[in-house]
Amino acid sequence: MRVFEDMCVWRRERVAQGRAGLTLGFVPTMGALHDGHLSLVRRSRVENDRTVVSIFVNPTQFDVPTDLAAYPNTQEEDLTMLRAEGTDFVLLPSAAQLYGDSYRYRVTEVEHSNVLEGAHRPGHFDAVLTVVLKLLQIASAGRAYFGEKDWQQLNLVRGMVDAFFLPTVIVPCATVRESDGLALSSRNRRLLPSDRQKASQLYRALSTAPTPDAASRALRAAGFVVDYVEDCDGRRLGAARLGDVRLIDNVPLGDRP
Ligand code: PAJ
Repeated sequence: MRVFEDMCVWRRERVAQGRAGLTLGFVPTMGALHDGHLSLVRRSRVENDRTVVSIFVNPTQFDVPTDLAAYPNTQEEDLTMLRAEGTDFVLLPSAAQLYGDSYRYRVTEVEHSNVLEGAHRPGHFDAVLTVVLKLLQIASAGRAYFGEKDWQQLNLVRGMVDAFFLPTVIVPCATVRESDGLALSSRNRRLLPSDRQKASQLYRALSTAPTPDAASRALRAAGFVVDYVEDCDGRRLGAARLGDVRLIDNVPLGDRP
């Protein structure tokens, strides 16, 4: 596994691979890796000759500064996990490299990015789309892998790729869950043990409640502060907080009993 901190060096390597005719799959992440991230890496390994993973904790997409400060930094463990998965390349760009323009240039989507997550996190999706555009350009991969866990992010990225005729195919990947249904997330490790027990209620409420309102009521009764539960395009999406940990999840509406 080769680790690149200098994106100019990586770009030269990428040109060489292109000449050799090798296909490349790309998995962008913010590190603190878990089995959800690794499922994307595994899928990319199956579908491409080479796989590149980026680790970059994107400061612009954290609307609450304490959330950025609390974001786990586990670089050594991340690299060990990626090596064990057979990852070929890892990109570790610095904020200075990615934001030479000081974030003067950015991608704005004016409709779908203002609802659900976007309504609760102003500017979040501008920041996500902007960094994903930069990373897709740097990686120059044929395919890029995104989790359905972040459903709105996945759809906005797909929309951006269509809108700007980007050559990378976006591949959606199913949400990986704990045995009790809780979606794997880097934030789960911050849950207090008592809240960890409750956390699986989010998936259960989204999956089984007859209406979004009923799901919200069930979550409040279980001790969550609910940001939203909404049905949208055949999917039920929700965000709720336990203490200072904010969890999001979504399920297809067809899954409910
Ligand atoms: P991050 O939260 O690190 O997630 C990286 C990728 O892993 C995303 O595509 C996310 O949807 C996927 N993922 C996370 N948990 C998952 C799970 N339980 N099952 C399946 N996939 C899961 O999402 C981001 O980083 C950032 O916004 C990024 C796209 C890297 C831009 O900064």
